[in-house]
Amino acid sequence: MTTNLLYGKDLRGDIKNALSLCAMVVTDDNVARLYPELTQNAFVIPAGENNKNQQTLFDILTEMNKRGLKRTDKIAALGGGVVGDIVGLAASLYMRGIAWVNIPTTLLAMVDSSIGGKTAIDFSGVKNLIGAFYPPERVITSYRFLETLLEKDWLCGYGEVIKTCLLTAKSYSLLIDNLDNIIKRDRDAVYALIEKCIEIKQAVVKADPKEKGLRKILNVGHTVGHALEAADGYKSSHGEYVLKGIMTECAMCKDIMDEDFYNQIISVCGRFVTPPRTSVKTVKQRAFHDKKNYGDMITVMLPVAAGEVLHVRIAQDDFTERYDKAIKELKKV
Ligand code: GLY
Repeated sequence: MTTNLLYGKDLRGDIKNALSLCAMVVTDDNVARLYPELTQNAFVIPAGENNKNQQTLFDILTEMNKRGLKRTDKIAALGGGVVGDIVGLAASLYMRGIAWVNIPTTLLAMVDSSIGGKTAIDFSGVKNLIGAFYPPERVITSYRFLETLLEKDWLCGYGEVIKTCLLTAKSYSLLIDNLDNIIKRDRDAVYALIEKCIEIKQAVVKADPKEKGLRKILNVGHTVGHALEAADGYKSSHGEYVLKGIMTECAMCKDIMDEDFYNQIISVCGRFVTPPRTSVKTVKQRAFHDKKNYGDMITVMLPVAAGEVLHVRIAQDDFTERYDKAIKELKKV
């Protein structure tokens, strides 16, 4: 199934119209509070990654059944990555699959999670362990929602924005040339970057929808990032862990990176987050449970130069040594 993706500065009309065609709208309590006009009859779930679990999934499915949704009905997700991931999974399961529409309201969801059809819940301490590829029929991305974005969600979104910008030489230049304006959240600079990230993500998932090859490049920073996130009990936002993950994975593999590029990445990430302090034991255990691994090795997608990502596999013992060295190295910056 291909997704129709519409994006722009202010798509209120399209959103209202799309929501009116859905039998049920699911949102979270933050969005419901900020946008009462869009969420009058919505089913409201509690916000936050800690609620992306089987309880919330079954609450949504129960409500779909209670409201008498049929196979021909559509459901809408109005919210950030958590809402989109869980509603998409509910849509894939209900009556063996009904159509759904995704309306991302956060920066992270706009540039990353709403594109490419990944749906999931976290399970047994592992992020996104249960899920399916189940693309929405439509995604409508209106940057206007960013006007009410919470401070922590800006940082969260910037994690995925920076990751995506490392994937092509053009997006990397756009990021570096406009970094101060992006940090100041200058609208034009942010919108241009969002559009670039959407284009990149769309091209990648179109070429490899099921993550057999190319799509793996979207996991830059995510092996250590996910491990740090789970070890920390999802206390900070996903994007913060992605940024810490990028810093750590790069510092672990500094020997195979372009030196100037390495220094620039560490400095860019350092404008947003501090390096991690989590012990190697905790991180390694989680990193070995990562979905990207095969055999007895940890897989890291390493940006070695602007627009060039290498698939690096690290053995258990080597991981300990490299991680410890990376943490020491990052303490100096
Ligand atoms: N967030 C990574 C992906 O969609 O593949």
